[in-house]
Amino acid sequence: MASPDDRLDPDLIKANLRTKRIGRKVLVYEQTASTNDVAAEYGRNPDNDGLVVFAEEQTAGRGRSGSKWLSRRGDSLLFSFVLTGGDLGGELLSLTCAVAVAEAIGQIGACPARIKWPNDIVVAGKKVAGILVESKVQRTLCRASSHGDPRRAATLAPPASAIHVVGIGINCHQTAEDFPPELRESAASLDLAGDARCHRATVARRVLTSLDHWLRVAERNSRQVTETWSRLSTQLGQRVTLSYNRRRFTGNCIGVDPEKGLILQLDRGGVRMFDAAHTSVVKE
Ligand code: BTN
Repeated sequence: MASPDDRLDPDLIKANLRTKRIGRKVLVYEQTASTNDVAAEYGRNPDNDGLVVFAEEQTAGRGRSGSKWLSRRGDSLLFSFVLTGGDLGGELLSLTCAVAVAEAIGQIGACPARIKWPNDIVVAGKKVAGILVESKVQRTLCRASSHGDPRRAATLAPPASAIHVVGIGINCHQTAEDFPPELRESAASLDLAGDARCHRATVARRVLTSLDHWLRVAERNSRQVTETWSRLSTQLGQRVTLSYNRRRFTGNCIGVDPEKGLILQLDRGGVRMFDAAHTSVVKE
């Protein structure tokens, strides 16, 4: 349960938030099914580019590959933001968000954070945050007017455009016992990893600021994103086994491509790239 001084309040999150895009509008729900769904609904209106939705509690939070994302009320930062304009493409967006969240978490307390591809954020080898990118092409609300002419209205079909929703879950106040036994070895929270109880609104501001910065960087210089990703990656230079389309691939991770994903030098010869949406890490 959130203590009064750790409540999530839109004004508190927005206080001193000097972002240009991410967090132009901030909403906080006491409870919702999934903040990704709420953000996607807002994303139907292009004016909501950069809008962020937080929830104290999710009743149907989801993670990658169809998994559930569970968190007790007030223990985490659970939020999603929507991008309705400027298309970075799924891979670069995913890498950029991972870099932004890792860098922000790394600035909090004594927690150097690293990235486990595609976008798990780990501190001392344990996952403290996860990122779920969901994209779809949809008809956005159309601002053009038909001037009352029904024949003209029929020809003004709303334009199709890609909207991206990025959902982020950051474990904040969990103790080891709060995680199910099968996750205790691999999951942690900011409080467990750092040396003090974190303040969620402060963490939120740092993460939004970092996302705003890195999304701008990505638009002009994707190389800066991939270089920073490489510096923060736990897997670069390591042997990993991936599952893609129900087939397994083992090899040495030699880098990441902003359009095609993780690059493996395969044990059986050849180099292959794997996109984040259809690939999961089986072993490393
Ligand atoms: C993962 O590591 O599998 C990704 C987890 C993403 C969880 C967040 S919590 C806020 C947002 N809403 C959701 O339903 N999921 C994301």
